[in-house]
Amino acid sequence: MQAVEFRDGRLILLDQRELPHVERYLEIESAAAACDAIRDMVVRGAPAIGLAAAFAMVLAAREAQSNAEPEGMLRARAEMIAGARPTAVNLRREVDAVLAVLKGPKEEWPEKALSYAEAMRRRQNQEDELMAKNALGLFRPGMRVLTHCNTGALATGGLGTAFAAIVEAHRTLGLTEVLADETRPRLQGARLTAFELGRAGVPHRVIVDGAAAHFMGSGMVDLVIVGADRIGSDGRVANKIGTYGLAVLARHHGIPFAVVAPRSSCDPLWPDAREVEIEQRDPREVLEFQGQRVANAGSDAYNPAFDVTPGELVAAIVREDGLFRPPYAF
Ligand code: MRU
Repeated sequence: MQAVEFRDGRLILLDQRELPHVERYLEIESAAAACDAIRDMVVRGAPAIGLAAAFAMVLAAREAQSNAEPEGMLRARAEMIAGARPTAVNLRREVDAVLAVLKGPKEEWPEKALSYAEAMRRRQNQEDELMAKNALGLFRPGMRVLTHCNTGALATGGLGTAFAAIVEAHRTLGLTEVLADETRPRLQGARLTAFELGRAGVPHRVIVDGAAAHFMGSGMVDLVIVGADRIGSDGRVANKIGTYGLAVLARHHGIPFAVVAPRSSCDPLWPDAREVEIEQRDPREVLEFQGQRVANAGSDAYNPAFDVTPGELVAAIVREDGLFRPPYAF
């Protein structure tokens, strides 16, 4: 099961909106369709979005080639893809990186973009392996671990970030149980993390997001471990909405709160030289369930997709180049 692939000139995305019950793949032939798929969360998770964007640039390069203004069109398509979701740094970073290699004759653009994206996939796979190994120092045999959202193969196209660390820790040390937050409103925890934990043979239970304090207070959590969409120079972490609350709860209960993410999710310009936009999604994701209105008719909702956890609440940040402790200076 591959979250992101490029075959026969098409971007193939596993439709994560339908998992775990249906395994359906979308075949995408235009940059605009790739952009819609990223925005609609067919593919999601910061590194997987970056990978899909790099492959989408192959489609953009192909479209631009036959345009009267190839460079202008390429830049417009790149801007469209990079703007599909604003919070994960990986998306714009990879689009910019592909643009940087598209120098020279336009006939070579698609091939150049494709080799960048394929090399990027290989690099991400290696990084995932290294992060899982580097994170081992956070675990002890028999631990109970709480995680949020989905950070597995579905979120990176490789092994995953925090998820791969959990699987490696269970394989080498043995964990008692993983608590997977359901992760309202898109249920990445209940649908995707539980699915991947099940396939990896890791004992787990799904809990509602609001139950985290209860389980921490009951001594049923020894470590909270999550991924990141963007890490600032001082260790602040933008991640799925609810992450900040978990970090505050963990601090109150004396439980370590750790983040696993590749260097490509780090943004040294944030916060000093850059503000970060928190994606605001459609209120219907909160007000409806499977297309049926459940909230009071006439009530509106806020639906921020991410929050920001201050670096001082983060006990450790694990990247492919090591395990870092506060104070952070990335
Ligand atoms: O909205 P999503 O599903 O793209 O959000 C994903 C997350 O918040 C993940 O925790 C993050 O991208 C890390 S993925 C390895």
